[in-house]
Parts: sequence; C-alpha cells; structure tokens
Amino acid sequence: MKEQLEQIRASAMAALDQAADAPALEALRVKILGKKGELTAVLKTMGALPAEERPAMGQMANTVRADIEKRLEQRRSELSAQALQAKLRAEAVDVTIPGQPVQQGHKHPMYKALDEAKEIFIGMGFQILDGPEVELAEYNFTKLNTEEGHPARDWSDTFYLAEDSSVLLRTQTSPMQIRAMEAMKPPIRILAPGRVFRKDEVDATHSPMFHQIEGLVVDKGITMADLKGTLETLVKSLYGEDSVIRLRPHHFPFTEPSCEVDVQCFKCHGEGCPTCKGEGWIELLGAGMVHPKVLENCGIDPNEYSGFAFGIGLERMAMRRFQISDLRLIFENDIRFLSQF
Ligand code: PHE
Repeated sequence: MKEQLEQIRASAMAALDQAADAPALEALRVKILGKKGELTAVLKTMGALPAEERPAMGQMANTVRADIEKRLEQRRSELSAQALQAKLRAEAVDVTIPGQPVQQGHKHPMYKALDEAKEIFIGMGFQILDGPEVELAEYNFTKLNTEEGHPARDWSDTFYLAEDSSVLLRTQTSPMQIRAMEAMKPPIRILAPGRVFRKDEVDATHSPMFHQIEGLVVDKGITMADLKGTLETLVKSLYGEDSVIRLRPHHFPFTEPSCEVDVQCFKCHGEGCPTCKGEGWIELLGAGMVHPKVLENCGIDPNEYSGFAFGIGLERMAMRRFQISDLRLIFENDIRFLSQF
C-alpha cells in the first residue's frame, strides 16, 4: 500500500505539472481525489490491512492527499496568472501609434447668423419660441386676417396637406404671432425662428424651403418708433454701427401700417453696385404694426394694447452677413463652401 500511495503521489505531481489549463486541473482533481478517484480507491482497501499498520498508512494517505491538494492549488494560481498575462498581451494597445485625425465640424453659417440674431434679441428681453411646421390654415392665414379666398391662400403657392385646405406646411412664421398671443398675456416679446415652405422653383434667390425669424412685441403704448429702434439695433449689431436702414410702405394683411425694411448696401453705401443690383439698398424683412383685427382674434383689446411684428428672411440675413451670393450654397452642404465660415 505504501508503494501504491507513493506511486499515486508521483504520477499526480507529474500530471499536475503538465496540466495546461483550469479544466484539465479539475479533471485531474476528480480523477485522483474524487469519490471514485485513485486515492479514494486505495483508502477503501485500508480495512484489509493489519490493525497495527493502519495508523501509519492513514497518516501517509493524509499527507499524500495534502501534498496533492497543495500542488493543485499552486498550479491553479500559476495557470490563472499565465492566463491573465496572455490576456493582457492580447489586449495591449500601442499608445505610440499616431491617431487618425478627427475632422472637426462647426456650425452652419446660417445657424451662426441665427445665433447672433438670437443673442441680440435676448439682450432686448425677447423670449425664443419654437412652433410647428405643419400648421392649421386657421393660424397660417385666417387669424392673421387673411380670409378664405385671399390670393395668398392659393393652392399654386402653398403645400396643402388636406383636401379641404385646413392643414398645410406653414408658408411663413407669422402663425407664431397667433400662437404666442393665445398662449401668453401682454407684455409679449417673442422671437420665433423656423422653416417655412412655398411652391417656388430653386434658383439663386428662391427655394421651396427656407427660414424666417418672426418677431412680435405687444404691450401698452407700442409704436412704429419701437419697431424702427428694435430693427436698427439688430442691423447695427449684425452689420456694423454705420449700417443704415429704410422703411418702405408695403402691404401685409396682418399688419397696419406695413412696411418693408431695407438695409443700405454694405458694398457701395447706397451708390448702386452688382451686389445690390444697382439699387443701393437690399431688402431684409417685412414688418408693421399688428392689425387690430389680429389682436382681437387673439382676445387682446386693441384699444388697450398695440404691437409690432416683423418677419426676417434668415437665409437672406446670413447671405448679407457672410457675403454669400447664391442661396443654393446655403443648402447644398458642400464642405468646401461650408468650411470657409
Ligand atoms: N410673414 C411675412 C412674409 O412672409 C413677413 C411679415 C411678418 C410681415 C410680420 C409683417 C409682419 O412675407
């Protein structure tokens, strides 16, 4: 029996040294120390030994078992250290390899111009509003004093989304005037930038989708002078202190009186040049005093309150701001163009 135990120890030690991984170790443990293992089998024959030999053999068996277990444990930690090393090697990153340069993007010039305008109006106490691009004809036209049958409501100019002409892609940001007046009480000072849609062919100055910035102020005692002062502040901040604006009489159904506002050409200062097509002035926006009917449509008493509104063409404003000559450049997303700003 002594030889058998020695034999088991020797072959176990050799096998453990050879074990290549954790599953192999576990298989060996079962094979040697398990219930049906080699060592257990030897111990079961213990009963056949003479009584005086049993204690010594028992002790030896225990020592053999302890030795094997100790070696098993050693191997286990050796193997797991090896596995960790292998994993670390496999996952190693060479931090000295030069990286791929990342192309740094930046804001589109039109949104830069919009951000500047927002800053200027926020400085004057305006609140920025957002509104739906799919709009009710009620808001886009009717409540803006543009009754059914008005030429502006023609199907040839507007993208209608309902057979009965009740829903459309907004043709202007002016419905935000109504939404603002319905949602809040005077004093109101809001700026509502956003996309608008018209059935226009694309050319150097037209696009079926473009952007406007709607402005609305309603309070007691608001006059045309407030409108002019506000727009002058905008234009001087955007285009420089020496900028000059002029107000030309115009017609909009929802303002009375109405005007168009031009800025003096920054290239020729009013002389007339190719940039302003010889006019000396460049049209920038439409504006006027909010029509009393529009105030009434929104439950505001025109005898108590008055207001002004304006609608700026955002692309046009950005084109002036960055001296861009063709509207299509704004939408084409050509990186060679955009990276200049
Ligand atoms: N909504 C008008 C347009 O699209 C512009 C405008 C806005 C005019 C507000 C007056 C007041 O042309």
